[in-house]
Amino acid sequence: MTVQHNTSLKPFNTFGIDASAKSYLDVRSLGDLKFALTEYKDEDVFVLGGGSNMLLRSDIDKPVLHLNLKGIETLKNENGKVLVKAMAGENWHDFVLWCIDHNYGGLENLSLIPGNVGTAPIQNIGAYGVELKDHFFSCEVCDIKTQEFATFYLNDCNFNYRESVFKNQEKGKFIITSVVFELTTNEHEIKTDYGAIKNQLEAENISSPTIRDVSNAVITIRKSKLPDPKEIGNSGSFFKNPVISQEHYLELQEQFPKIPGYKVSDSAIKVPAGWLIETSGFKGKRFNNYGVHEHQALVLVNYGGADGDEIYNLAVLIQKTVSRLFDINLIMEVNVI
Ligand code: EPU
Repeated sequence: MTVQHNTSLKPFNTFGIDASAKSYLDVRSLGDLKFALTEYKDEDVFVLGGGSNMLLRSDIDKPVLHLNLKGIETLKNENGKVLVKAMAGENWHDFVLWCIDHNYGGLENLSLIPGNVGTAPIQNIGAYGVELKDHFFSCEVCDIKTQEFATFYLNDCNFNYRESVFKNQEKGKFIITSVVFELTTNEHEIKTDYGAIKNQLEAENISSPTIRDVSNAVITIRKSKLPDPKEIGNSGSFFKNPVISQEHYLELQEQFPKIPGYKVSDSAIKVPAGWLIETSGFKGKRFNNYGVHEHQALVLVNYGGADGDEIYNLAVLIQKTVSRLFDINLIMEVNVI
């Protein structure tokens, strides 16, 4: 395995930021991983997956381990349930399509989410009424310091809305090398409650959707709203949807009668950050070669050539404006590096 120097990370982050890695290692096997961790055992390493949830503000001085472990296998198939193991470097959407091709149900609502399988549990990816945790069985991790392998099961992961143990208590300690999902082989639980999916299926006159119909509907919706990172650099939702008190929500409703909100408990309401940013006047705003997406205000975009600081400063300006207008603190969902 060779170590490359001063390698551009532009092709490896979906924001398309041209930051570089002082040392870069293309990790293609568990043997490569062991070699890399032994080689740099006294240094902090930077683990790169699909690069779909990060904003690079500077070059990376730490050795960058680009996790390209590949492989998908069915571990167990009985009583209508299947356990499927995917290696960390598999592209998430390709894996979802593989599951659909094998008639394994569960992940179809998570179609077209950018990124890799191994990074999906870190922020418990979610879309259209389904989160990764709903079908997660376990993941294998490698301890960066000791190079020992361990298994985390569902209850070990503290999954929550865009949160897990890997982003909090155990941050930076482990590398996820593979993930096992529990999926259905028949009697799939089709989830079409999310308004946009229902409308899309109705428009296509589909009344008893298959998992592939749901996947296709999600793909159509995402393509209509979210920019394709291959065409316009972005990291999906830049902020999390904030949760505020019912009292605060009622106060805001007096001033902004159209403010949307979804009840998460008797006293708490989740407000779409996209609405807050749009109402603050940022939707579709373009500054030189970066800005806020025209169809989804939650997505910041790099039209080409923007640097990480420019996008970060825009994010901070959005946070300040939303705080001034609504007294709500938006939290960045993307990892700023
Ligand atoms: N809205 C606006 N203006 C906008 C965008 C949204 O007013 O520019 C309001 C509308 O009221 C709309 C509501 O927000 O009805 C919800 O919008 P949408 O269905 O697009 O969902 P979201 O809450 O903005 C979340 C996830 C997305 C995920 C969608 C669908 C977060 C931070 N984002 O967005 O996830 O695809 O739901 O489930 O929870 C991602 O994490 O990268 C991502 C794209």
